[in-house]
Amino acid sequence: MTQPLSNQETPAKAVVVAIDGPAASGKGTLSQRIADAFGFAHLDTGVLYRAVGVSVLRAGGDPADNAAAARAAYELHPEHPILQEVALRTDEAAQAASKVAAVPEVRAALLDFQRRFASHPPGGAPGAVLDGRDIGTVVCPDAQAKLFVTASVEVRAERRLRELQRRGIPAIPSDVLEDMKARDARDSQRAVAPLRPAVDAFVLDTSALDADQVFSMAVAHIGSKTGLKPAA
Ligand code: DC
Repeated sequence: MTQPLSNQETPAKAVVVAIDGPAASGKGTLSQRIADAFGFAHLDTGVLYRAVGVSVLRAGGDPADNAAAARAAYELHPEHPILQEVALRTDEAAQAASKVAAVPEVRAALLDFQRRFASHPPGGAPGAVLDGRDIGTVVCPDAQAKLFVTASVEVRAERRLRELQRRGIPAIPSDVLEDMKARDARDSQRAVAPLRPAVDAFVLDTSALDADQVFSMAVAHIGSKTGLKPAA
């Protein structure tokens, strides 16, 4: 028989910070830094869509094929080894992710995974930071703090170009810009959970800000919503 929990035993509700934004807006770096500063767990939800996209490609399928994409999404679970692979970081994986992300069954299959992480952060962390495209609007609409991190497409393409160069990957600037525009269009014009700020999100345009400025503004916003301060 299940024993009722006393008040003392009732686990505190996890604090959830939702961070959304387009590709190369700086939301990934910011999310990890926020998670480290507050002692929260971090989930980069783009990795889930990338894993689904890469699984479909590896099976010889087309990421835009609804049935193949949905099958791959239902097979994904938190311990799946593909989630650790560097192959998820390529532009090919990003484009495939953006295609499977438009399939409603894929989004539905990944919803439980993300919500479970938010309500029960791994390692008993007191909170979770989830970053993606629809965290504040669909996955965690009740998140205590929501940020929408953005920058002009030119600035984001430039950042992506520099990142590729740092990793020794040859890239043509005009191609990087066009790929970025194509992904923006797919992510923001799809019918299900399109990329857009939640009405109660704090919109942070990072075009003319450095990482430290973005971090300070985000910390101030989270503090104003939760009363929390970073530990370090
Ligand atoms: O953040 P990212 O670049 O790793 O995401 C890859 C793709 O996954 C992105 O183009 C759209 C999709 N995605 C999504 O639709 N919803 C999310 N919460 C996260 C990513």
